[in-house]
Amino acid sequence: MKILVTGGLGFIGSHTVVELAKEENEIIIVDNLNNSKEEVLDKLEEITQKKFKFYKYDLTEKERVEEIFSENNIEAVIHFAGFKAVGESIKEPLMYYSNNLISTLNLLQVMKKYNVKRFIFSSSATVYGDQGKEKYSEELSRGKITNPYGMTKAMIEKILEDLYASDNSWDITLLRYFNPVGAHSSGLIGEDPKGIPNNLMPYIMKVASGKLEILSIFGNDYPTPDGTCIRDYIHVVDLAKGHVKALQKAPKGLNIYNLGSGHGTSVLEMVTTFERVNNVKVNYKIANRREGDLPEYCADATKAFRELGWKTEKTIEDICRDAWNYEKNLL
Ligand code: WQD
Repeated sequence: MKILVTGGLGFIGSHTVVELAKEENEIIIVDNLNNSKEEVLDKLEEITQKKFKFYKYDLTEKERVEEIFSENNIEAVIHFAGFKAVGESIKEPLMYYSNNLISTLNLLQVMKKYNVKRFIFSSSATVYGDQGKEKYSEELSRGKITNPYGMTKAMIEKILEDLYASDNSWDITLLRYFNPVGAHSSGLIGEDPKGIPNNLMPYIMKVASGKLEILSIFGNDYPTPDGTCIRDYIHVVDLAKGHVKALQKAPKGLNIYNLGSGHGTSVLEMVTTFERVNNVKVNYKIANRREGDLPEYCADATKAFRELGWKTEKTIEDICRDAWNYEKNLL
């Protein structure tokens, strides 16, 4: 199948390209390098021993999107491209709404024009908001969202629902990620955010490698066994495999799946596991709670197993080992 992967040089996009390349797929990558590096293309070719057509284009430029479809007989699109930092989105809402929505609308309009109707969207568990659950299932409606990043995900889900309601010849899959972490076992690709990391795992790695002095654990007075927040961390390779399964097995029409492990890990458990697995020290201090954090947020991941035959296979130990293996290559 000829597949366009938007954001294909990014953290999740690049790992998905690796898994797609294991099947008989012809993959085209478009990425504007806003949060990725062109050298990832070489790493992908090294890992897969395959070449990929690459467009260094910005999807907010509709004529560029048109050019990609006019030059290639694309059969399906996996859409990762978009800004994704919660904190940044609160400071720069217009940048987030314009980038994430315009790029997606351009893509969908050009797909419609070229009669390309297979679309997989990189959504996020953040669309559930806080519904007081420990596990979130797809039967729940979207909840109250407290940041523009999460709102763009919810708005795009709504756009896709309305599009499908207007034309049920579309095959649309919404994949709601929980907490993607880890790296490819080769250590050639992984998570390398620009600037000071917002998320836990990249921050742990920067402290372990000495690039940052100390990890602040945002609160240890939550109603959880060790007082720190619990999240559903999913190895990025498991996440990538979920996209392949969605492409292969998702029923016709519009379908929603959580991609998570279904298990919770606390912040302290993640830190101590990282130290044990990699025999490194992670300096930390207990700091105040971070606004908006919830005590526990995990997936009910049973629907993806039932309908796609997909579930996570990698452990927290695998996550910590693979993430550190990648970070050491950056040193
Ligand atoms: C995890 C836990 C923090 C950093 C975010 C987005 C979500 C999704 C995944 C895109 C929390 C604690 C963190 C630190 C800490 N992204 N922490 N010190 O907030 O669960 O989810 O990333 O879809 O939309 O909201 O992930 O890694 O930021 O935090 O103690 O320096 O680690 O308090 O409990 P989060 P996170």
